[in-house]
Amino acid sequence: MSRLQEKFEILAKRNQEAEAGGGEARVEKHRAQGKLTARERLQRFFDPGTFIEVDKFVTHQCTDFGMDETKFLGDGVITGYGEVDGRTVCAFAQDFTVFGGSLSLTMSNKICKIMDMAQKSGAPVVGMNDSGGARIQEGVQSLAGYGNIFHRNVMNSGVIPQISVIMGTCAGGAVYSPALTDFTFMVDGTSHMFITGPRVIKSVTNEDVSTDALGGALTHNKTSGVAQFMAENDDACLAQVRRLLSYLPSNNYEDPPVAPCSDPVDRKLFEINETVPENPNKGYDIKDIVRAMVDDGEFLEVHERYALNIVVGYARMGGTTVGIVANQPNVLAGCLDCDASMKGARFVRCCDAFNIPVVTLVDVPGYLPGTDQEYRGIIKHGAKLIYAYSECTVPKITVITRKAYGGAYIVMSSRHLRGDVNLSYPTAEIAVMGPQGAVDIVFRREIDQAENPQTARQAKIDEYTEKFASPYQAAQLGYIDEVILPEDTRIRVIQALRALRAKRDTNPPRKHGNIPL
Ligand code: HXC
Repeated sequence: MSRLQEKFEILAKRNQEAEAGGGEARVEKHRAQGKLTARERLQRFFDPGTFIEVDKFVTHQCTDFGMDETKFLGDGVITGYGEVDGRTVCAFAQDFTVFGGSLSLTMSNKICKIMDMAQKSGAPVVGMNDSGGARIQEGVQSLAGYGNIFHRNVMNSGVIPQISVIMGTCAGGAVYSPALTDFTFMVDGTSHMFITGPRVIKSVTNEDVSTDALGGALTHNKTSGVAQFMAENDDACLAQVRRLLSYLPSNNYEDPPVAPCSDPVDRKLFEINETVPENPNKGYDIKDIVRAMVDDGEFLEVHERYALNIVVGYARMGGTTVGIVANQPNVLAGCLDCDASMKGARFVRCCDAFNIPVVTLVDVPGYLPGTDQEYRGIIKHGAKLIYAYSECTVPKITVITRKAYGGAYIVMSSRHLRGDVNLSYPTAEIAVMGPQGAVDIVFRREIDQAENPQTARQAKIDEYTEKFASPYQAAQLGYIDEVILPEDTRIRVIQALRALRAKRDTNPPRKHGNIPL
């Protein structure tokens, strides 16, 4: 063998060693749980043949606890860049077969390097997390590593999309970086997130809880709201991430990608003309209107299982990405509560950061009353949604389908919070509150003293309904630009989007605002 061939051979061996991860036995155990390896995850995520790995031969520098004897090339994380639908994306994938994917200072340096590259080149960063948290043998060095990652997460926030994919049990520090990113995906059955696991919880609080109930995909998608998406397996999860990326720009200087649109922009939506029921107390599914309105009925719902009284997600209209926010009359009559307000506010801010116009569908009787909500802080959480809509400078188009009462009318992208185009259906009811409640407060004495209180009450309700429970007072005042038929929703929203394409608006110079927390 020539000297040159020898050198090539050494490289091939090193590559092989790095690609072996934590060794056959550990890889087999990993696969037996239905999980892909870190390398397979990256290969399947990126367009075929486009993934370029960096820092493949990096090793940790720890010498305590015999660690100098145990080194793996790559040190438990694979980092690099590649293409998704032809656009550059940076990524890292933790390898659970190497020290349980735990974070060493070296691993954090690799992750930070790829995050810095993403930030400098204006590319999204996707982290595939499968990690037991801080590498215990490294002590404070691994904590320093987390600090370095968290700081970059914060600095990159609103600059490039940051996506976390949870693909195993992530504990301790491994869950805070995802919490600082824009979106968190989880795999049902194989992924978990918690600060401390069931054993620690048992010893501290004596509480018995399973790993799934504590931090499984359903728990975080439905109960805590920590994650926005879940999938049945690794492959399905990675396909979901690719789909989400297709709606987003690569960075905050770009507009979102425009897709070819074969769905006629002037398509009439006859099928939704009667979706809003005549009876104001009857629910309906707002998603019927969303799907009818958007290109090809395709709607990527975000937070599909959390705070179901508000619906948020991405779609395209005339080929352009839009963020949809819609009250859901089928759940809690569409009332805004603490969770719905936080969900809506975060989504609106994300759209604003990445130049995605916001289309809001309004059918909301108000903020949800009750001690539970008041004690949980509906005042401060509700204020978040006002804040988010108010500071948002992307095009904002609003369609009131039915109820728009009280503070909830104001918050849902009203003209008063810089809504650009505000439309309503003839079925809209825009007032301080619903007719029954209003009449019982304002005319209580008059009704009590009437010969027939029931008839008197109904007469007042009818009078109030005639005067306020319609869009026409708001239309007279210019708070509503146009009262439209439901069948014209698609064309009117697309016309508004086109008119607002070059919209520029700013907020006063300041270090940063102080959103209610
Ligand atoms: C070093 C670790 C490790 C860690 C796991 N391993 N976690 N090594 N540091 N944090 C190693 C194990 O020694 C083992 O090595 C291999 O990874 C697989 O671990 P197992 O326990 O065999 O796997 P499993 O039964 O699947 O359990 C996975 C787990 C468990 C639930 C993640 O390992 C676990 O509870 N780990 C500790 C989690 C934790 O408390 N982390 C918090 C750290 S503190 P071998 O050689 O046998 O393959 C923290 C603070 C940061 O993160 C705060 C920042 C805000």
